[in-house]
Amino acid sequence: MNGSSAEPHLFVVFGGTGDLMRRKLLPALYHLANKYQLGSQFKILGVARSTEYDDVSYRQFAAEALNEFIGTQDGKSNGWCNECLYFQSIQKGEAKDFVALRARIEAIEAENGLPGNRVFYLALGPTAFPSTIAGLGESGLNDSQGWTRLVIEKPFGHDLETARELNATVHAHFKETQVYRIDHYLGKETVQNLLAFRFSNPMFESVWNRDRVENVQITVAEDLGVGTRAGYYDQSGAMRDMMQNHLTQLLTLTAMEAPAAFEADAIRDEKVKVLRSIKKIRARDVIFGQYDATQNNGHSTLGYHEEDGVAKDSKTETFVGLRLHIDNWRWEGVPFYLRTGKRLRKRVTQIIVNFKMPPVSLFQTFEGCHLHSNTLVMTLQPDEGFVLYFDVKQPGQGMNLQRQALKFRYSDKFGPLPDGYETLLN
Ligand code: BG6
Repeated sequence: MNGSSAEPHLFVVFGGTGDLMRRKLLPALYHLANKYQLGSQFKILGVARSTEYDDVSYRQFAAEALNEFIGTQDGKSNGWCNECLYFQSIQKGEAKDFVALRARIEAIEAENGLPGNRVFYLALGPTAFPSTIAGLGESGLNDSQGWTRLVIEKPFGHDLETARELNATVHAHFKETQVYRIDHYLGKETVQNLLAFRFSNPMFESVWNRDRVENVQITVAEDLGVGTRAGYYDQSGAMRDMMQNHLTQLLTLTAMEAPAAFEADAIRDEKVKVLRSIKKIRARDVIFGQYDATQNNGHSTLGYHEEDGVAKDSKTETFVGLRLHIDNWRWEGVPFYLRTGKRLRKRVTQIIVNFKMPPVSLFQTFEGCHLHSNTLVMTLQPDEGFVLYFDVKQPGQGMNLQRQALKFRYSDKFGPLPDGYETLLN
């Protein structure tokens, strides 16, 4: 976060006992702390409605989460939890609870000599955003002697109207410069690399358009089901959970023009131009699906309707596929296929650019000769890297063509990549 994460500060997580905290935020904060990127005066306050925790049991909860998700079993992570973590219940989230929260924050800051720099991270279901933001504002927690930041994740509202209402609530209590609306895909190394790939390799730029590209396919497939998050997911579905945020970011990075500068506003402006150029999506260009129970080699998985917390008659989509057209000079006539779903065959996030076939097929007279189009496969996770497919003549008589691959794998060249949250919180 703008180089200030090393300044002494308190990191307050609403949803401190939730899935995001356990799976992503705690591991990311722990890794950053180990790389000395959080400074020496850094504390975490987990906030939740639950009254079952105090500081001691919350530290135990955090140590178990670190153990489960990054396999730490050493005294070091326990020591870190004991040293850094606190817990405060927000009970029913009434005004008096926020007053108590404020008092607790000030006490932790006084105890640790923190100057009042605070991050409020809303790791919450979207229905809790407005009341939490209002609670922070009304209790005066939107301002302090240091800096105060508010971090919000998706989905930002349920539709345009509620997104505007939420924005109005945010602006009633916080200045825009305090607000970070984040998408963790933008913290992934391979997603950040899309800008480097496109704008530092002019060779690709010259073919990155309607003259050379047949279609673009963006896939975010997950093998896991909804897990313990049905309460949130069943109200959101794949469109609001993944498509309107993560896949749309991948789309804009793939399709945008070069920004005037490598600066947030300039990049945002180019992305917005892509979004504005998307043709109205017709019903026949969208498909929805829901996963079913499966049985494979003695291994079975639950269908969406059988998952804990999912309404038996739920129509919430766990898969969505879209065909889009971007109506601008670069992309006119090139379909973009976007798809995402849970409980699919394997976990993979990929952008595939299929290039056009040669205008004239010179080799068609040779029996059995099959020409393939060039294809660029950018795998964003897992097994991150690129593959560029092209045809070569198979040695020997005649003219048989074979598809070959030029490959680059991150793991061959670099160490393990940091999680997106680590980059965003840094
Ligand atoms: C989150 C969604 O934003 O992204 C989850 O809420 C999804 O439903 C997750 O599983 C996928 O993230 P990643 O980094 O594992 O691709």
